[in-house]
Amino acid sequence: MRTKDKIYVAGHRGLVGSALVKTLTRNGYTNLLCRTHDELDLTDQSGVESLFAEERPDYVFLAAAKVGGIHANNTYPADFIHINLAIQNNILMAAHKYPVNRLLFLGSSCIYPKAAPQPLKEEYLNTGPLEPTNRPYAVAKLTGIEQCWSYNRQYATRFLAAMPTNLYGPGDNYNLENSHVLPALIRKFHEAKVNQSASVVVWGSGTPMREFLYSEDMAEACVFLMNLDDQQFDSMLGSDRNDGIPPLINVGAGKDCAIRELAELVREVTGYEGDIQFDASRPDGSPRKLLDVSRLSNLGWQATTGLKQGIHSAYAAYLTNLGSSVA
Ligand SMILES: NC(=O)c1ccc[n+]([C@@H]2O[C@H](COP(=O)([O-])OP(=O)(O)OC[C@H]3O[C@@H](n4cnc5c(N)ncnc54)[C@H](OP(=O)(O)O)[C@@H]3O)[C@@H](O)[C@H]2O)c1
Repeated sequence: MRTKDKIYVAGHRGLVGSALVKTLTRNGYTNLLCRTHDELDLTDQSGVESLFAEERPDYVFLAAAKVGGIHANNTYPADFIHINLAIQNNILMAAHKYPVNRLLFLGSSCIYPKAAPQPLKEEYLNTGPLEPTNRPYAVAKLTGIEQCWSYNRQYATRFLAAMPTNLYGPGDNYNLENSHVLPALIRKFHEAKVNQSASVVVWGSGTPMREFLYSEDMAEACVFLMNLDDQQFDSMLGSDRNDGIPPLINVGAGKDCAIRELAELVREVTGYEGDIQFDASRPDGSPRKLLDVSRLSNLGWQATTGLKQGIHSAYAAYLTNLGSSVA
């Protein structure tokens, strides 16, 4: 990407999108195209097509999606499949019709088969049953990857999916109804400190292993991928007709930690001095979820923000925004 190229960041106010805008701006990219949800509902096909027809972006980061934790996925399955399919359909079709140089579609580590071996390699996609609680979201994302692959095969587009692990960082969603585990822990420990509660209850046994990547590292990885030379980028585009690895690449920290360790870290960072209790009657989910990031490391990228450092930065942003972003 040249610094004057027009770069569309779909979902620029979200966790990943806002980190992308920050990273792109820091790296000298001055021609960013952004629309809020109020300005353009991405499920509106004609609206999306008009945006591409008028603005003709050179590059697209597709970081807009309906995203949430187990509770939200269980409560609104129809919204998760419908909205995500619509956003992808509209943007991918428009990016083909008004050709862009490259497009990066945000997939997710949680769409790999539930029982896939660990760490998760790219070739495990579509090899087994999905986790039932987020299946509608996963099916939408899998369709998005298949769409990228199909456009690449039929029209020689350059659409690639990045598969992030669990992300966290400034601007995260701290609403306990639909947040992910790390922001939920930050909020719970902070509130327990303020309210001087004797203990914090963490769902599950604390033994599952999970991987976390700081959102600005994720954004750096996305920009890195978008800037690979043609040979490297094209080697990931899933050129095989009917088999082979789809056009995707894992993006993760390369290491995981137990939820118990994570809770200890959040307690330390927030300065809470009470106890941690684990409610083992709550579901644990998979025992381990770790991405194999060797493909990305071999290309020359690795995460730089340690977990403790990242939680410090996320907590600082949480405190700054307290009152405006916390439901
Ligand atoms: N967060 C994670 O841990 C994680 C992990 C793996 C993969 N991912 C993937 O990374 C991508 C970005 O996730 P995120 O965590 O940054 O999500 P996010 O914080 O919820 O941001 C998503 C953005 O998309 C916008 N959006 C949603 N529906 C829209 C619509 N119909 N029209 C216009 N804008 C719409 C949202 O705007 P409003 O808020 O105004 O609706 C929001 O700004 C997603 O594809 C997600 O699946 C995230």
